Amino acid sequence: MKPLRIGMIGYGFMGRTHSNAYSQVNHFFKNEYQPVLQAVCARDKEKVQAFADNWGYASVETDWKQLLKRDDIDVIDICTPNNLHKEIAIAAAQAGKMILCEKPISMNVAEGEEMCSAVEKAGVANMVWYNYRRVPAVTLAKQLIDEGRLGKIFHYRANFLQDWTINADVPQGGAATWRLDAGAAGSGVTGDLLAHCIDTAIWLNGGIKDVTAMTETFVKERVHAETGKKTPVKIDDACSFLCHFENGSLGLFESTRYARGHKALYTLEINGENASLRWDLHDLHRLQYFDYRDDGIVRGWRSIHVSDADQPYMKQWWVPGLQIGYEHTFIHQVADFLKSLETGEPAHPNFRDALETQKVCDAVLQSANHRSWVTI
Ligand SMILES: NC(=O)c1ccc[n+]([C@@H]2O[C@H](COP(=O)([O-])OP(=O)(O)OC[C@H]3O[C@@H](n4cnc5c(N)ncnc54)[C@H](O)[C@@H]3O)[C@@H](O)[C@H]2O)c1
Repeated sequence: MKPLRIGMIGYGFMGRTHSNAYSQVNHFFKNEYQPVLQAVCARDKEKVQAFADNWGYASVETDWKQLLKRDDIDVIDICTPNNLHKEIAIAAAQAGKMILCEKPISMNVAEGEEMCSAVEKAGVANMVWYNYRRVPAVTLAKQLIDEGRLGKIFHYRANFLQDWTINADVPQGGAATWRLDAGAAGSGVTGDLLAHCIDTAIWLNGGIKDVTAMTETFVKERVHAETGKKTPVKIDDACSFLCHFENGSLGLFESTRYARGHKALYTLEINGENASLRWDLHDLHRLQYFDYRDDGIVRGWRSIHVSDADQPYMKQWWVPGLQIGYEHTFIHQVADFLKSLETGEPAHPNFRDALETQKVCDAVLQSANHRSWVTI
């Protein structure tokens, strides 16, 4: 097997999901390439060493620029807050490294454009971790749509609801709450949560033409974890938008961190002329499907338990009837990336694909600011 030496930057939530994926992928998917946990990088030497020991990384770095200089690293995996994606990705491309970058690709479209130019100029393989495409039930939805089973699509609806920032005492900034600091995150729920919904939507239902949005920041000031001072909150706490897709269907998206009782409720529903689909992250192994062409006496919503060997990704796992979970979506993404290196076919979503999502995010925020429709 050919080693693929990983240098991962950031070891938080995503650092763990990615490390698990690299460790597991070859046990389940046959590939020419084998990820090797070569180095992990973060600023605190003691903490990053503890992470490396736990996951089996061979070495640590405390400065990502040093990591990029090493010639024993093939892939740079960017798992840092959003404000670091651009600088690291461009430098990694210039160093000739393959790049796996967490989503959203960038803080805004201008940064994303620069990142796309850099990887294309360097000719390095690249991918962005929009992992929800690799939930088998969502991949099955894509298959059913591509087979034409839904017919003409009329409606696309998606929500991503959380409730962890309702308390006004939650600070902004710092290690745990950088998502509330516009300087680190770029935006609030739009880039953090809706970006996932938009990526899946474009993949399933095609491009988005125009949007009209509203955003709200319910808690206007929060203590900044780094300075201890109360400072204005500049992220969107909630965002809803309407859109037209290029295929003529209408889109309705909502995300908030103020939906009491919801932790990570990502749902989507697609209504076509012949059939509808519905999916829910809290029950991620099921795809709800209604087909109007069924015989009238048995027509109704069916709940497909996506666990059979002929359903996407599932023959690599256990036996029919046994489901898999969230962490597997990252394993699937690594497996598809390794396959792309073998075949020479680019893995998706790549930087260009992720830039399309970024364009919609920027248009949504612009529309909310100007209270008007914005063409993508
Ligand atoms: N694909 C998904 O579903 C998903 C889910 C969560 C987060 N994300 C994305 O992943 C990225 C990281 O999010 P997270 O939840 O893992 O955050 P996190 O706060 O858990 O981890 C961030 C890591 O970056 C490190 N870091 C920060 N500045 C650094 C620097 N200058 N040099 C080296 N390391 C540095 C921190 O030490 C930490 O280990 C973000 O872009 C986020 O949007 C994606």
